[in-house]
Amino acid sequence: MLSSINKDSKTMQAILATMIDGVIVVDYNEQITLANKAAENLFLVRSGVIQGRKLSEISNDSKISKMIFEVLHTGKEVFKETVINPNNQVFRVHVVPIKSEDDNIEGAVAVFHDVTDARDFAQIRSDFAGNVSHELRTPLTSIKGFVETLLDGAMENSATCRRFLSIIDTEADRLSRLIEDLLTLSSIESKERMIQPKPVCLIRSIRSVMNIMGPQISEENLHVELIHPQNMPPVHADEDLLGQVLINLLDNAVKYSPRNGKIIIRCRQQDSRIITTFTDGGIGIPYDSLPRVFERFYRVDKARSRSQGGTGLGLAIVKHIVESHGGEVFVESEVGQGSTFGVSFLVV
Ligand SMILES: Nc1ncnc2c1ncn2[C@@H]1O[C@H](COP(=O)(O)OP(=O)(O)OP(=O)(O)O)[C@@H](O)[C@H]1O
Ligand SMILES: [Mg+2]
Repeated sequence: MLSSINKDSKTMQAILATMIDGVIVVDYNEQITLANKAAENLFLVRSGVIQGRKLSEISNDSKISKMIFEVLHTGKEVFKETVINPNNQVFRVHVVPIKSEDDNIEGAVAVFHDVTDARDFAQIRSDFAGNVSHELRTPLTSIKGFVETLLDGAMENSATCRRFLSIIDTEADRLSRLIEDLLTLSSIESKERMIQPKPVCLIRSIRSVMNIMGPQISEENLHVELIHPQNMPPVHADEDLLGQVLINLLDNAVKYSPRNGKIIIRCRQQDSRIITTFTDGGIGIPYDSLPRVFERFYRVDKARSRSQGGTGLGLAIVKHIVESHGGEVFVESEVGQGSTFGVSFLVV
């Protein structure tokens, strides 16, 4: 059998060379008789160097050598998921014995399948599930606490009753906003919500969002100014999704601005893109947090954001929508001075 997989077999070489998985064949003395390109890359050795040597000579990692040893001595295949240094990649390693017709063990084949991405993805998914559960539990715990207090007798006092009910109302709003945001995010991510781009007048969309936010803007006595060149071409965007981007950015600028503050929205054309920036003179964002603000659930000041009803999903939604339109997002900020968030969209 071993001779039939010998290195002169051109077909076998061609097949092995195109494989993404690393393959190593060893004889009964654990000496490597064949290794494909992927395996050479995996152990960072030059082409051909690996043949005739033992795995223990080319890698400090004893796990694989032990697996091969086990297979050669038991005749039973083994599977293991393991990190292979020096790249810290996670591999699913499968070692099977090569047996002669009279069942003698002649060698073994080891196949290395890279599962690093799958593991990273599983980690992200489990972090995400953890975050979601936590975010859902917080308002629920609070609702349950207030309901219990009311049932325990606080209901008798109408002022207390009213106060508690209004807290419950706010927390229930938070819950439903959180669920809505999660649904938006997951529908954009799963591409289930098809993007339907068409020429959209960006200025009109910004004005409409300024109107929607009108009550909050006047409540905080903010001054919002829109600066744009005349005759701006339309952008290529899904109007509803564009509206979500704009509303999230304006909502943040309003939320994180002091009373009587000023917000400037600027549009400018740069080659085939229109860049829109929202500048506020608010609390600003610490330098270390800047790269993280577009992450789901990331909030610089959890308590402050939560007291304002924030779930930390707004900017994650913005980034997703903008990037799925082929645009980019950016942020500049200085603590105590204010922040500028920018997005770009392609012109038609
Ligand atoms: N204009 C801004 N000024 C200061 N900090 C900001 C600004 N915009 C965002 N941030 C920070 O980035 C975090 C993430 O923003 P994001 O919009 O994703 O979440 P949120 O506003 O807290 O909640 P949501 O938008 O889901 O209601 C905020 O919690 C806040 O700490
Ligand atoms: Mg927000």
